[in-house]
Amino acid sequence: MSGLRRLPGDPPAEAIVERMLRVDHAGEYGARRIYAGQLAVRGRSPAAPVIRHMAEQEQRHLAAFDRLVAERRVRPTALSPLWHIAGYALGAATALLGERAAMACTVAVEEVIDRHYQQQIETLGDAEPALKSALEEFRADELEHHDTALAQGAEETPGYGLLTAAIKTGSRLAIWLSTRL
Ligand SMILES: [Fe+2]
Ligand SMILES: [Fe+2]
Repeated sequence: MSGLRRLPGDPPAEAIVERMLRVDHAGEYGARRIYAGQLAVRGRSPAAPVIRHMAEQEQRHLAAFDRLVAERRVRPTALSPLWHIAGYALGAATALLGERAAMACTVAVEEVIDRHYQQQIETLGDAEPALKSALEEFRADELEHHDTALAQGAEETPGYGLLTAAIKTGSRLAIWLSTRL
């Protein structure tokens, strides 16, 4: 595996890719649960088609990582039961706050995921071209979700700054944990 950008003391390339797959698989699983929670609350609202479209793309991302994790025999995160509940709770709670708060949740999560995928793409360099192009494609979808949510008035939600800061912190923590556990 050549081209992967490693620093002295970093784990071997294979371990790095394994960690990437573990955390991405966990993240897409969490994303699917967030939108499931939002749809449970707002399934009949005017925003429902927009949320459903995002949910379908997350399902596609998750399916890709399901395949990769199985093919490469990567141990999935031990925290799936936590993301099952936390993702759904986050989606449902923000949706209960209102349609704009649900969109603010998407803005916050996608901002973190965008950075995360960007960093992985940089780390891969010219290694793992198939994985890299999948990450690029998914990253473009996440950016689309981010921009759609902004267009839906996310920033007008009361307490937008605090809400998104909290969700971003939680998302970063989830990434940190899922990379390791
Ligand atoms: Fe996704
Ligand atoms: Fe997304």
